[in-house]
Amino acid sequence: MKTVKVGLIGFGTVGGGTVDILKNTLPEIQRRIGQTVEITIIAMRDLQRTRPVDTGDIPLTDQASDVVNHPDVEIVVELMGGTSVAKSLLETAIRNGKHVVTANKALIAEHGNELFALAEKHQVMIAYEAAVAGGIPIIKALREGLAGNRIEWLAGIINGTGNYILTEMKQPNADFYQVLKTAQELGYAEANPTFDVEGIDAAHKLTILASIAFGIELQFDKVYTEGISRVTADDIRYAEQMGYAVKHLGIASRTATGFSLRVHPTLIPDNVLIANVNGVMNAVMAYGNHVGPTMYYGPGAGAGPTASAVVADIIDVIRWKHQPTEDRVPALGFKADQMKNQPVVDIDEIETAYYIRCFALDHAGVLAKITTILADYEISVEHMLQEPSTNNSKDATLVMVTNTVKENKLNQALQTLQALDEIDGEIMRIRVDALG
Ligand code: HSE
Repeated sequence: MKTVKVGLIGFGTVGGGTVDILKNTLPEIQRRIGQTVEITIIAMRDLQRTRPVDTGDIPLTDQASDVVNHPDVEIVVELMGGTSVAKSLLETAIRNGKHVVTANKALIAEHGNELFALAEKHQVMIAYEAAVAGGIPIIKALREGLAGNRIEWLAGIINGTGNYILTEMKQPNADFYQVLKTAQELGYAEANPTFDVEGIDAAHKLTILASIAFGIELQFDKVYTEGISRVTADDIRYAEQMGYAVKHLGIASRTATGFSLRVHPTLIPDNVLIANVNGVMNAVMAYGNHVGPTMYYGPGAGAGPTASAVVADIIDVIRWKHQPTEDRVPALGFKADQMKNQPVVDIDEIETAYYIRCFALDHAGVLAKITTILADYEISVEHMLQEPSTNNSKDATLVMVTNTVKENKLNQALQTLQALDEIDGEIMRIRVDALG
């Protein structure tokens, strides 16, 4: 049986999972491809560090260049993360004629356009299924499974850590930072957890999804990005009382004036399927003009799920590597010369409904004053609830869900409200989407 030699760069959670799968599921993989896969070398930053799994007699090195320059390695699996060192290593690997499998969403989202061009020039593949939504084969689903459709929009819970935090915050007395710590211990969080909490990780993934859905270049810098750090347990509770779940969504859609690419907390009706996606689970909805609405669900982070996608990519590369480049599935699903760049609409221009929560002096006439200001901006209140002032606070909490309105108009109304003497603290607003 022919042996395909693989070199691994990065030996953390996902690296350990990959070694584990290639060791323990090898007979099944051999049955699929009629070849065997061998990990020939592993590069890890610190050879003294505890290894996530037993490596047996696989040679280890602390020099990643040993992997990308290894004469026998055909496929370089990059699991180190980061965008600068990883980029130059992969460029060397590509120039050396090696195929690449990566879980590095930041690298693909920020530098994918040039890396894919380089790979095409050198007739090698870059596979990146593990970069988005962990174990869900969403890249393959969008790029190949829905290839007969024009994708109209997609929306997804694409950060497992964020979804885990939002889910756990429903527990009484849950503490944001304690929950985040648990997510880190479970191997879900990024090396820099700000990427999870502030939406950057989700923005990387949305960039990739939008590109393969619409056939547009990767445009990470155009994605509007807002994280979950300002969402409170009370917001989640108020939303629930009004029939909504709070989810951190990545949304990509076509509008009359261009593409809307955004990542932010979103209230969604609690009776839609995706509202019930909890914990580390991810889900992506994609609407194709022929198929209609579809949804893909699975674990979005962790060793097994992410390594499952890495190994699927290794198998894919082995199956396709002898085909001429022009016959392979294009990296972003559309032929490179057919990628179209259309404008990305500014967040100010989107139209959506909003959840507004504010603390207002508990006096007669205050509510009328607030709704009058909203009416001045043609904003109507669809749902509302109020918690009266308590012994500890002279303020009532007012929570409203508005009709659909342009974001810049909503912002003007909120500015006017914020300036009122009767309003205390910062007004919270969360976008609302019915997803359909
Ligand atoms: N930190 C990421 C997440 C890992 O929580 O979704 C998978 O990309």
